Parts: sequence; structure tokens; C-alpha cells
Amino acid sequence: MKTRQLGNLQVPAIGYGAMVLSPGIYGDIDDTRAAAALRAALDGGATHVDTSDAYGVDGHNERLVGRAIKGRRDEAVVATKFGLAVPEGEPSRSQKVGYAFGELRVNADPRLVRRYAERSLRNLDTDVIDLYYAHYPDPEVPIEDTVGAMADLVRDGLIKHIGLSNVTAAQLRAAHATHPVTAVQNEWSMWRPVDPELLAAARELGVGIVAWSPLGTGFLTGTVQSLGEGDFRHNAPRFAPENLAANNDRYAPIRALSVQLAITPAQLALAWLLHQDDHVVTIPGSRTPSHISENLAAADLTLHPDTLARIDEALATFEVTGGTLL
Ligand SMILES: NC(=O)c1ccc[n+]([C@@H]2O[C@H](COP(=O)([O-])OP(=O)(O)OC[C@H]3O[C@@H](n4cnc5c(N)ncnc54)[C@H](OP(=O)(O)O)[C@@H]3O)[C@@H](O)[C@H]2O)c1
Repeated sequence: MKTRQLGNLQVPAIGYGAMVLSPGIYGDIDDTRAAAALRAALDGGATHVDTSDAYGVDGHNERLVGRAIKGRRDEAVVATKFGLAVPEGEPSRSQKVGYAFGELRVNADPRLVRRYAERSLRNLDTDVIDLYYAHYPDPEVPIEDTVGAMADLVRDGLIKHIGLSNVTAAQLRAAHATHPVTAVQNEWSMWRPVDPELLAAARELGVGIVAWSPLGTGFLTGTVQSLGEGDFRHNAPRFAPENLAANNDRYAPIRALSVQLAITPAQLALAWLLHQDDHVVTIPGSRTPSHISENLAAADLTLHPDTLARIDEALATFEVTGGTLL
């Protein structure tokens, strides 16, 4: 697997997003299937594994990852996040999101940061987190304060690298002035452009970008016609039946292009992302080993400049119906 640099951290160009493995996100799933998917990801070279203390109930997702890396810890770059699984009794603040439930609750108070990290280390059954993200900025806490507490964790050896997720360029600049930030993790895919100011700031500061939901939570694979029971995408207006049908129609030129290139739409979506910047990496999620190997093969694809131009042209008129996810 080709590697890329996020700051001074080396990771595979395509890693693995483990969120998909906890029940209640993409419908039901058991731990046996989840473990098989994680094994397929690690065996295939997707050794940058992304989780969060907020995926699944009571650290379920982190515990899955912890079991998967047992005995092969050195192979893995473990990334996790804090701030959305607020300990009982602690206050939280609202972060508006595009999902029908309207908001997430966040607490990134520096006073809690060490407690969050210690809980994640226990869940992951490891002694260090390679890349630790503040999952969301806290509207009541200056980001420099959150990052100041994360810097203490680097100093004390609990984490190796600092990441920020769902931030603006201004927040990245303020945080980076407190302690070097290794990576920013924001949504970026064919149906969600990255904020150009954030990209410019990341380039200028030498911060890597980790693109989340690179497959548009499945849409960009061209295979989603309807949703099953217990699927969180029921909360996303983009997936409401009439919007999904309209979006699938508008996405047809990209699907057609992938047929011409003899690759899948998922591979085209991932390869396109990797061509946007040398310091972008991505973390598609999948519970299906054949999808995982299909996705990882996209790291080796080189898209011709004419192909990239045709994609840009198609995306310029690909107006998504149903608002954004977050
Ligand atoms: N920082 C944040 O706030 C944030 C927010 C959201 C996500 N994330 C991160 O980003 C990661 C990935 O995001 P995501 O899971 O939301 O969305 P995603 O990776 O864009 O899409 C996942 C969906 O695509 C399907 N899929 C994957 N490969 C496929 C293929 N080759 N063919 C057909 N279907 C395929 C999966 O189904 P199958 O299981 O059937 O393959 C799953 O339904 C998460 O795991 C998480 O680590 C971060």
C-alpha cells in the first residue's frame, strides 16, 4: 500500500474507518462480522484504523479495534477521538448538524481531556494512541485550551499526534499555534467539497487531511437504492427516497465514467480524492471484505488529467438534494 505523510506521521493512502462496525449505525451487525472486516482491512494494508469513543455504546467500537490489533499493535496506526461521549454528570454544548436529529452534544473542556484519553486507552487495550482527535470543537471552549490539554498528553506519552476534526481554517490556525497539529479530519468527497480555506491553511501549516465519509456514506458507490432497518442514514435528508432517486440520477455521469475506466464508482471516488492533494488520505468504512479489497486497490490508480477534468465538469453540475450530513 502506498503511504503518505500527515505532518510527520506516515500512514497508508487508504486506511479504514471502523464506525461502520458498531450496531445502530448501518443497521445491525455482530462482533464476529466486525472482527472479520477489521482483519481484512489490516491484512490488506489499511493499517490506519480510525475509531472514536462515540462510535457504538460505551466504547464498543474502540474495544473492537483493541481486539483486532492485539498481537499486531506495531502494524497499526490507531486514531481515535473524544468530545462527543460526554461522561455522565458533565455538561455539554450543542453542535448543529444536517441530520434530522439536529445536533450533537459536545464537551471538549481541557479538564476532561485526560479522562477521555485514559478511557480510550483502556477500551483500545493499548498504552498509546497514535493520533488523537478532538472530535468537534466545543462552542464554549477556545480550541487552544482543548489543544493545550492534548499537548500535555503528548508530553506524558499517552498520545503521539494531535488531530482536529470538523474544524474551520481559523480554528486550525489557532490550535496549531499552541501545538503542532498532525491531521485534520473533515468530510470530503465527491458530494461534499472541502472548504478551500481549510485546505489552504492545512497546506501552509504542513497539516495532513483525513477525508471522512469518502464514499458519501455509501452513496458514491452507486449501489444504494434504498435503506434497511436501523440505518442512521434515515436521518440524512440526502437519502430520503425522493432525494436519493434524484441524487442517483445526477450521479449517473460519474458512474458511467467509472464503467469506461473499468473500475467501480467506489474506486473512482477514492482515487479522485487522493488526486486532490499529496497530503490527503482517506478512511472508507466497510463491513464486507470484498468491498474492503476493492477500495484498497484504488490507492494504486492513476487518473489521467483528462479524466480529472471530466470529473470536475460532472461535479460542477452535480447539485446534491437534501442538505449536508454534518
Ligand atoms: N470525524 C467525523 O466526524 C466523522 C464522521 C463520519 C465518519 N467518520 C469516519 O469516516 C469513516 C468512513 O465514513 P462512513 O462509514 O460514514 O462512510 P463511507 O466510508 O463514505 O461509506 C461507508 C458505506 O459505504 C459502503 N461501501 C464501502 N465500500 C463499498 C464498496 N466498495 N461497494 C459498495 N459499498 C461500499 C459500506 O457498506 P458495506 O459495509 O456493505 O461495504 C457503508 O455502507 C468512519 O468509519 C469514521 O471513521 C468521521
